[in-house]
Amino acid sequence: MCGIVGILGRSAVAPLLVDALKRLEYRGYDSAGVATLEHGHIERRRAEGKLRNLELKLSDAPLMGAIGIGHTRWATHGRPNETNAHPHATDKLAVVHNGIIENFRPLREELQAKGVVFETETDTEVVAQLVTEEIVQGRSPVDALAATLPRLRGAFALVFLFDGEENLLIGARHGAPLAIGYGDGEMYFGSDALALAPFTDEISYLEDGDWAVLSRSGATIRDAQGGLAERPRQTVPVGSVIASKGNYRHFMAKEIYEQPEVVGRTLAHYVDFGRCAVRLPELPFSFADVSRLSISACGTAYYAGLVAKYWFERLARLPVEIDVASEFRYREAPLEPGQAALFVSQSGETADTLASLRYAKAHGQHTLSILNVPTSTMGRESAVVAPTLAGPEIGVASTKAFTCQLSVLLALAIGAARQRETLSQAEEQRLVEALVAVPSLMTEAFRTEAEIETISRELSKAKDVLYLGRGTSFPLALEGALKLKEISYIHAEGYAAGELKHGPIALIDETMPVIVIAPHDAVFEKTVSNMQEVAARGGRILLITDERGAAEAAMDTMATVIMPDCDPVVAPLIFAVPAQLLAYHTAVFMGKDVDQPRNLAKSVTVE
Ligand code: F6R
Repeated sequence: MCGIVGILGRSAVAPLLVDALKRLEYRGYDSAGVATLEHGHIERRRAEGKLRNLELKLSDAPLMGAIGIGHTRWATHGRPNETNAHPHATDKLAVVHNGIIENFRPLREELQAKGVVFETETDTEVVAQLVTEEIVQGRSPVDALAATLPRLRGAFALVFLFDGEENLLIGARHGAPLAIGYGDGEMYFGSDALALAPFTDEISYLEDGDWAVLSRSGATIRDAQGGLAERPRQTVPVGSVIASKGNYRHFMAKEIYEQPEVVGRTLAHYVDFGRCAVRLPELPFSFADVSRLSISACGTAYYAGLVAKYWFERLARLPVEIDVASEFRYREAPLEPGQAALFVSQSGETADTLASLRYAKAHGQHTLSILNVPTSTMGRESAVVAPTLAGPEIGVASTKAFTCQLSVLLALAIGAARQRETLSQAEEQRLVEALVAVPSLMTEAFRTEAEIETISRELSKAKDVLYLGRGTSFPLALEGALKLKEISYIHAEGYAAGELKHGPIALIDETMPVIVIAPHDAVFEKTVSNMQEVAARGGRILLITDERGAAEAAMDTMATVIMPDCDPVVAPLIFAVPAQLLAYHTAVFMGKDVDQPRNLAKSVTVE
């Protein structure tokens, strides 16, 4: 993870570096730092914690240099303190790094044997020292990099600033993203186009193994073999204004409330409203010709994929195998060439999902990725991209990206069913009508907010919370538990309601709230039986259901939240709303940092 930026500018770059880092804070916020050349020499300002701490340091001791690099950190090697904050520097250079240098230990030992003294616990300092050694031996910065880069193993992106070199930045990409930005007499490096958005939209993306030498007049790019490389320049229109919170207290709240709009926008991309039919993206294969679909993703995106397994199997009669990407990438799954592999990712940069995509490609799969950032690495490497149109998601806990992913997945499942002739035209129409109703049902679901806010006060007292669901509500139970634990730090688990009696029921007592997500669907009665089992053991139930569900369950609960009636097929999209609001209000009530919860980052580009 971590966000990196480099600027060859015409006047003081420190404020621009900080501005870029604000857009990169989603990649980590354990510490931040910048380095510039002040009268030819490297000067740094670094601070533990959020970017505002660095801003305070810079206002006390401003930097004026017209060339510099910046970093926002998600700690991997070494505690998140100021010493370990990037840039790391020697008297020859400063470097910012995103990723992991896997062989840093032997390299560090080698350098220590030569008498090099290390100041930090980081893997990055090894890189700074290795390049410095080459320079001390008389190599130019470019030659020093050419000698050092082949020695590094792992997934990383690096940007270097050199003492005395007012017109030179060098960046390298090996498994972690790095883009070059072209300005007017100015040049940039950034982890992504968003970081550079206020300065330029002319971007070229480095490929793995590339390294680039920037001066104010342009870039020279070399590939892993050292040959000169051309990488296409493209215009990447990303809004130059950081998404604002508007009247909301947190980005997460704003993003929850944006869902009717962004889901509507996403659906408009996949639905032909006139014909009441799904519009599939252009695919180089037909779902009718595949006998298996594999899905890989991480975290919330994985839970979206898990919901989709139910849809693809039920509607399209297409067997689905789904894995968390960190397992899929290593479990050596046998894949028959010509089958389809689907990947779900908000960022399109998640290291494990990207590695799974590459594995699937290498094994002859048709690759299809559902992405919120189509220009991301996964977007560039997938045969087909199905975009979610959620807009930038700033809150670290994913909300609107999740429901947009679900919208695309359901549209794809319906389209697959049409191709496989497992759905009549009338059934497709009915499902599309259900999909089209989602945005207004989500708006109705917001009416539950006041009640949920009250319940969240109760929830905030809990040490453990259990979420239960069956069918498509099971992945939603997992997602509800993930939302609660990541932003409130309350321990929560999601379980398949029917699995409760096989172990977790032992946990039930009067102190543990049990949240049951149960729209009135084909498995509702079964879920009610499981609720009875909880109630019989003194468990306190929060039931999230609809009018019919509440009437039929007729149970004494701690609270029952009544959701609008909806077609059970789209229930995961609607019932996601109270799950999100519950986590949000609990965390707010507890005074937690909702948008930037501890230890997390928005884009996870390390293993
Ligand atoms: C949880 C959350 C994470 C992400 C996961 C995958 O709220 O946001 O679990 O879903 O890190 O990220 P993407 O979708 O960018 O691949």
